[in-house]
Amino acid sequence: MNALNIGNLRVNLPVIQGGMGVAISLSGLASAVANAGGIGVISAVAIGMTEPDYMKNYREANKRALRKEIRKARSMTNGVLGVNLMIAVTDYEELFTVALEEKIDVIILGAGLPLKLPKYVADKGIENIHTKFITKVSSAKAAKVIFSYWAKNFNFIPDAVVVEGPMAGGHLGFKRDDLDGELVPLGDIVEETVAELKHFEKEFDKEVPVIAGGGIYSGTDMYEIMQRGAKGVKMGTRFVTTNECDASEKFKQTYIDCKEEDIKIIKSPVGLPGRAIRSNFMDKVNSGNPEPFKCYWKCLKSCDSKNVPYCIAQALHNASKGDMDKGFAFAGSKAYLATKIQPVSQVVMELKVEFYRKKYLEYLKNFLGQRFIPERINIPNVIPYINIRMA
Ligand SMILES: Cc1cc2nc3c(=O)[nH]c(=O)nc-3n(C[C@H](O)[C@H](O)[C@H](O)COP(=O)(O)O)c2cc1C
Repeated sequence: MNALNIGNLRVNLPVIQGGMGVAISLSGLASAVANAGGIGVISAVAIGMTEPDYMKNYREANKRALRKEIRKARSMTNGVLGVNLMIAVTDYEELFTVALEEKIDVIILGAGLPLKLPKYVADKGIENIHTKFITKVSSAKAAKVIFSYWAKNFNFIPDAVVVEGPMAGGHLGFKRDDLDGELVPLGDIVEETVAELKHFEKEFDKEVPVIAGGGIYSGTDMYEIMQRGAKGVKMGTRFVTTNECDASEKFKQTYIDCKEEDIKIIKSPVGLPGRAIRSNFMDKVNSGNPEPFKCYWKCLKSCDSKNVPYCIAQALHNASKGDMDKGFAFAGSKAYLATKIQPVSQVVMELKVEFYRKKYLEYLKNFLGQRFIPERINIPNVIPYINIRMA
């Protein structure tokens, strides 16, 4: 398993933990993933909901909570830490600036095209900033738009790209119709994006790793997508059922209890489809019974707060606290595979074992040809032999 290199930043475990709001991935989960060698990510969206004065003082509460969580995570790890920012939020620039001031290692920009960077970046000069910028896209076309814009306007290109396919949890960068029937394979989008970025890499003399996310749950998934050109993976769902995940036990339990058919596509007030686990609350609002709410501030640029049937930020925060009657859990299409809560270190160990198992099986398949019968192969016994052959 090769390290993921983002410019001069080396990440020994090529795994980015998906930023998960509201208050699902804070300092607890982020520091645990960073300690395991990956990139641990704090989700900034509505993070101030964890502060007592959020309703009156939302902007300050968001900034304060983000700064606090970054510092807390730093105190728990020397590993690589990131912040996930949604371009769709009203205080995007302010949160972006806090993350930069705190010298976070990476910022992942999603839910829209990041065509505007905060004044802080212009003042410092983009090339003088410690933080690496990663943009999240769902198509090679979107990557091209962002890279062309940055190249033209900032004479700089993002340091890495996350390609997120249609199997992901949370909001999805696809049209509703594209999420029915056969889904576009993530591997195809990865290959197209790798090809699209080639000339930007040449022009800027810079390697831009493509990282794949959405439905990556096992080490086998990791191996397969890395064979298609991904240099790393982004995983959200797999890290929810860990001891260190910052959500309540009830939230985690919905993952363990859910079945494949409980994982649904919803129409989110954000204006994008999302993937979540069915709940009574979801059934209620979907059947035309709105959940009344008071909007204290328009946290999402696109939210038509007077006409939406519920407040998405409030529903997600309720769920994260364990009030499942007043919300629902976002989840990826493989959430039903969760069977237990375990430490992050154990998840990472399983990912490595699965990854190497798949790698060795592939090697044997090529080596043995028609004599390859997977059921007859005892991996622990053949590993030393294969290591010698591969050397
Ligand atoms: C519970 C949950 C909350 C999420 N919240 C956010 C978020 O606030 N912002 C964002 O950009 N992505 C969010 N995502 C997407 C993740 O960052 C990640 O890209 C995604 O989970 C990858 O797909 P997977 O869940 O199949 O691994 C969320 C995903 C989940 C499961």
